Amino acid sequence: MTYRIAPSILSADFARLGEEVKAVIDAGSDWIHFDVMDNHYVPNLTFGPMICSALKPHAKTAAGVVVPIDVHLMISPVDALAASFAEAGADYISFHPDASGHVHRSIQAIKSKGVKAGLVFNPAEPLDVLDWVIDDIDLILIMSVNPGFGGQSFIDSALRKIEDVRKRIDACGKDIRLEVDGGIKTDNIRRVADAGADTFVAGSAIFGKPDYKAVIDAMRLALAA
Ligand code: DX5
Ligand code: ZN
Repeated sequence: MTYRIAPSILSADFARLGEEVKAVIDAGSDWIHFDVMDNHYVPNLTFGPMICSALKPHAKTAAGVVVPIDVHLMISPVDALAASFAEAGADYISFHPDASGHVHRSIQAIKSKGVKAGLVFNPAEPLDVLDWVIDDIDLILIMSVNPGFGGQSFIDSALRKIEDVRKRIDACGKDIRLEVDGGIKTDNIRRVADAGADTFVAGSAIFGKPDYKAVIDAMRLALAA
C-alpha cells in the first residue's frame, strides 16, 4: 500500500501561506490539502481559486517535482467554482454530493477539465450514491469530523465507514484513493490505515507543531509499523 500524507493548510499561518506550503513540502508532504469553505454549506469562510492559483507555483519539491493540490470543496452550488479551481491548477477536486443538485453532472464537469474528481461523505451521510458513480471517480474522502473547522476530535464511526468504502473500491477494481479528513494524529493514523485508508489529511497535527518534518516522519513510522 502506498500511503500519502496531505497536510491541510487550513491550520497554516495565512499571512505566510506560500512559505508554509514550501515548508510542509520540504518536510515531506505528498499532497497539499486545500479546504474551501463558503459560509453557506459550512459555517466558515476560507479561500477561493485566486489563492489556489497563487500557491500553485509553490506546490513543488526543491527538485521541481509537482506536489498535487487536493481541493476539498465545502461549497454549494459546486459546478461553477469547481471549474474555476480546475483553471487555478487543482489536481484533485472533491465535493460533497449533498451540496450538488446533480452529482453525476458535477463529476463530469470536473473531469472534462482534465482534473481528478472525488466525493466527500460527512459523518452521518450514507454511501449509497457510490452505487451509481464509483466507476466515475478517482477519490473518496471520508470525513471523520463535521466539516467547517480544524482541530476537532476524530469520530470513531468513520472507521466502519472506511472499511465499507475499502470493500467497495476493491470490488470495483479501479484505482481510487481512499482519503480520510479530520482529527488525524500520529497516535491514530495506524488505526485509520488498518480500516483501509491510504491518504491522510492532517491540519492541526502538523501545523500546530513547530517541526513539521518530525510529525510527518512520526506518521510515516506509524504507517510502516
Ligand atoms: C475540516 C477540513 C479539514 C481540516 C482538518 O472541515 O476539511 O481538512 O483542516 O483539520 P484537523 O486535521 O485539524 O482535524
Ligand atoms: Zn478537508
